Amino acid sequence: MERIDKVISVALNVSRTDARAILKKGLVTVNGSVEKNIGARVDEHKADICFNGSKINYNKFVYIMMNKPKGVISASEGGSEKTVVDILPQEMKRKNLFPAGRLDKDTTGFVLITDDGDFAHRILSPKNHIPKTYIATLDKPFDDDLVNAFEQGIELTDGLCMPAQILALNDEKTVAQVTIKQGMYHQIKRMFKKFSITVIELKRVKMGGLFLDESLDYGDCRYMSQEEINLVENCK
Ligand code: URA
Repeated sequence: MERIDKVISVALNVSRTDARAILKKGLVTVNGSVEKNIGARVDEHKADICFNGSKINYNKFVYIMMNKPKGVISASEGGSEKTVVDILPQEMKRKNLFPAGRLDKDTTGFVLITDDGDFAHRILSPKNHIPKTYIATLDKPFDDDLVNAFEQGIELTDGLCMPAQILALNDEKTVAQVTIKQGMYHQIKRMFKKFSITVIELKRVKMGGLFLDESLDYGDCRYMSQEEINLVENCK
């Protein structure tokens, strides 16, 4: 059960004050009856709640899949820099949204934007070993020594990487699919750098068991279904 003013504020993405004003104007019905009592409690998932005659979409938390373009940072506030939250369409913006995990400014691909802190913590914690898969375009080919080293776990200045999987996506071995289970700073770029290989392009294509929706252009995003949200976490 939730207070109706909170439900309206979340569902319509307005302040609590504005939600109360909307209620007092008699614009909200609960199960067919006008509700003006701002403190009334409703079952937000079962009640039929309408604003101006249209059913509201109440979700406690939202989960958004974005295909991040280059040049925006994975943060909620970036000062003079544009962030992934800044480029969300106006109707998807709401309080407390942040990207669950960081991609470098020049990395593209799957960013999950949410306001569910517990979920973000679960998918980012190295303890939970949620794999993240990237496509890396390299300035020169990689060899079997690199494959073995990635699979053993590369030592970086700030710690040992967990075993990573790598697979060639072209005959020249200059495009690789890499799967890692942590999110250390510049991790993939630094893993290749150990072998004097520079990552020219990097794109994240999968989080847990969920692939980036190929129909999303750079900068596009959409809400994720419950099934997709579960796939991110339950991938083992
Ligand atoms: N590894 C990197 O080097 N950069 C990213 O953005 C993600 C993983």
